[in-house]
Amino acid sequence: MNGELLYLNGEFLELREGRVHVEDRGFQLGDGIYEVIKVMNGRLVWLDDHLARLDRSLAAIRLGDALEDHDMGRILPDLVARAGLGDGSVYLQVTRGDAPREFPFPAAPHPTVLAYTRPRDFPLPSFITTGITLHPVEDLRWGRCDIKSTNLLAAVLVKQEAQEAGAWEALFMAPDGTVREGGSSNVFAVLGGVVRTHPLDRHILGGITRLHVLEIAHRLGIPVEERAFTLEEVRQTAAGDCEFFSASSTTDMLPVVAIGGVAVRGGRPGPVTLRLLDEMRAELAALAGREKPPALLGPP
Ligand code: PDD
Repeated sequence: MNGELLYLNGEFLELREGRVHVEDRGFQLGDGIYEVIKVMNGRLVWLDDHLARLDRSLAAIRLGDALEDHDMGRILPDLVARAGLGDGSVYLQVTRGDAPREFPFPAAPHPTVLAYTRPRDFPLPSFITTGITLHPVEDLRWGRCDIKSTNLLAAVLVKQEAQEAGAWEALFMAPDGTVREGGSSNVFAVLGGVVRTHPLDRHILGGITRLHVLEIAHRLGIPVEERAFTLEEVRQTAAGDCEFFSASSTTDMLPVVAIGGVAVRGGRPGPVTLRLLDEMRAELAALAGREKPPALLGPP
């Protein structure tokens, strides 16, 4: 196996053999939800957290019984094993299935349930310690960003814009100037030694990596505040006691070294970020049954 395999409505298929109906409501209406789960050494990282969020997303779009015949806690590890996947990710999607195109729900929906594996390289230490840059944009998304919906057009457009501006990730900004989240990541600032991030509400996705960043910070005794902050606050402290980083399943944590062309902390990853990152990398290595990686944070 080359690490790629598809589970589609109860069947295991080669990825390129998968077919969905042209009137699938996920395809036509974006009437679906998804998950992206990291796989390390054949193990699904934080699977239970992802499955719990999957259930919440399904309940939020009133598709709560879509997985009755699909025990994902069993199917996903089986899929990864059958695919022979070592390092990569699983993409999972559930839609309200195919039906003649009408906006209200079909009377008897038959959801499309799919998941597939893909090998993927994770960020190298040299990339991590170089850090990434962010491109701030107006948040033009809908009012339920807490649902992991397949409606990703706003993210597609701003991530393209960010790339064209030479930045690595877009940064969604609220009309009042507060920072919400990245195009496909959560973001954190470290302001005066306190880890700050937007609170869980309908404006951001409750990231699984975000959850673990906060857990690790608590464990290390680093103060945390789930309270929105502005770029102005970041800029005021940018030269000194300020750090910034992003978090997502596919990239773990990445230090941010510039936002909108303005350097953060002189363009170098900060010590709190690297400490959290070292702890996360150690936790991930333990989950994957691998040796603890060398620390990114050198001796003080
Ligand atoms: N995106 N916020 C948004 C808008 C996201 O799309 C994502 C993840 C996150 C981070 O969530 P998590 O830590 O659970 O991956 C936050 C995935 C990776 C994607 O769409 O590819």
